[in-house]
Amino acid sequence: MNMTHWKESTIYEIYPRSFADSNGDGIGDLPGILSKADYLKDLGIDTIWLTPIYASPDIDHGYDISDYYTIQSEYGTMEDFELLLQEMHQRGIRVLMDLVLNHTSDEHPWFEQSRSSKDNPYRDYYIWRPAKEDGSPPNNWTSYLGKPAWTLDEQTGEYYLHLYNAKQPDLNWDYPPLRKDMYKMMRFWLDKGIDGFRIDAVNSISKDQRFPDTHQEKLQASGEPFTKNGPHIHEYLQEMHKEVFSHYDIVTAGETSKVVEQNVLLYTHPARKELNMVLSPEASTLADRTEDEFQTQEWTLDDLRSILTMWQKDIGEDGGWFGIYFSNHDQRRMVNIFGDPVNYRIQSAKMLSTLLLTLRGTPFIHQGEELGMVHNPLLHHIEDFKEQQALAYYDVMVRERGENEEKIMERIRQKSRDHARTPMQWDDSHAAGFTTGKPWLPVHPDYKEINVAAEQQNPHSVLNYYKKMIALRKENKVLTYGDFKIVLENHSQIIGYIRWMDDEAWLVLLNFSGEEAGYELPDNEADRMRQASFIIGNYSDSQHVHPNIHIPSGTLRPYEAVVYKSEGLMDDGVSQ
Ligand code: GLC
Ligand code: CA
Repeated sequence: MNMTHWKESTIYEIYPRSFADSNGDGIGDLPGILSKADYLKDLGIDTIWLTPIYASPDIDHGYDISDYYTIQSEYGTMEDFELLLQEMHQRGIRVLMDLVLNHTSDEHPWFEQSRSSKDNPYRDYYIWRPAKEDGSPPNNWTSYLGKPAWTLDEQTGEYYLHLYNAKQPDLNWDYPPLRKDMYKMMRFWLDKGIDGFRIDAVNSISKDQRFPDTHQEKLQASGEPFTKNGPHIHEYLQEMHKEVFSHYDIVTAGETSKVVEQNVLLYTHPARKELNMVLSPEASTLADRTEDEFQTQEWTLDDLRSILTMWQKDIGEDGGWFGIYFSNHDQRRMVNIFGDPVNYRIQSAKMLSTLLLTLRGTPFIHQGEELGMVHNPLLHHIEDFKEQQALAYYDVMVRERGENEEKIMERIRQKSRDHARTPMQWDDSHAAGFTTGKPWLPVHPDYKEINVAAEQQNPHSVLNYYKKMIALRKENKVLTYGDFKIVLENHSQIIGYIRWMDDEAWLVLLNFSGEEAGYELPDNEADRMRQASFIIGNYSDSQHVHPNIHIPSGTLRPYEAVVYKSEGLMDDGVSQ
């Protein structure tokens, strides 16, 4: 397998608004990030991804760009950005920018031109269609906000498409001049020396130009079958690669949902010259209902096991590659999804970090995850929420459909993205050391206990465990490149797998329940691991409780994680 830096990286997501505020206005900024450069270095990550910092009216916190070439003034200046880039590079940390290609803000000058008349040269930069004969929108698609995906613009009497907010009109990638302008913008940032892009909603940029009605009965994004992995998506990505990516040594990670198995290879096989890796939300959305993401559904460990198996299968020898994440700024904190934030917060956070950092693929850590931050409902009333999906959901369900307000608020408290965006918790001083002023979103009250300063002091903290796991991954290439095989199929509490390469095999056992869990390895695996040594565990006495001899069978405590390594027994690989 080809070994490259982006496969071996651990990437850290920074949500600039909530990371560190340098001037007391309550909003995180670039000098704030710079002031934490040594923290990032010490954590051991080697790449940061900044969510959008471009000029923006901010209805989707930067994902609505009004000028791709300017830094949002709240975050700082271009000089601040250049200094940050330089200081990160000095510490050996790469910097990825978020590239929003699917839409701009309606305040972008292109859209202001486009909407002004049907024959404006920028008209085709966006997607305009006439109304149906009865005056209704061109089709029945809903946006990701659960509202109609088309808005009528009085000026020219036509509708424009927006898969998100009406203030985020979709760009028309089928129009060559638009593509050229986008490539120019990408080169501008790469020429500044940035190290690549996380590409927002990348597999939505080519739409089915027939714009047919959808029959999908779902609240959010009902037109998805006609907007994801569209007819020209691979053509445009190959063109982008040729015009832009191929000229630089960079990382490209595309955010893709609805990329079923064979598509992963289409997007990431090196011979196809498209993207380095895709980031898929299957695991982090496991508990979300398809028909309505704000509702929760039951899931089983088998579901998670099949997702991991599917991810792992598509990468490796066959040539595709994956970015692995369980949390980001769009999902609940992962301890809430897969762990127990109340009774076993520390154990489950460490168990999940063991999972994230021992899978094949490039791991992504969302800021605060390394502290074991949780998503306990902190905002209560709709007025407290800032993120647009929650606000739109309230609008549709309570105002338009007249649903019971308390029932809807309960869903919003559970699911809103704001809870994964509360300020980073640095210490136990005012506002967790995030700002000297009033933070734009409240700081979680648990910051007295969960914060960087406290966790740095405590050898058993989640933070120190992450540091060990990140270092372990860096030192042992088998964790990046090794093969993957599930052991303990169908176990209802434990996920177990072996990673192996050359003559090394690693066994990872993770208890996903709050109960003790017994296991017995199949004979052939037990044989392989019989001289294995203990590497790491998430209870301070794990090694003592699980000495090597216990590997063939044993019992894990609630949310316990253990990792073993065996050497010299693997001449013929692990039997399948
Ligand atoms: C991506 C971003 C999300 C944003 C959306 C629209 O999914 O991660 O935060 O709202 O795209 O740009
Ligand atoms: Ca600030």
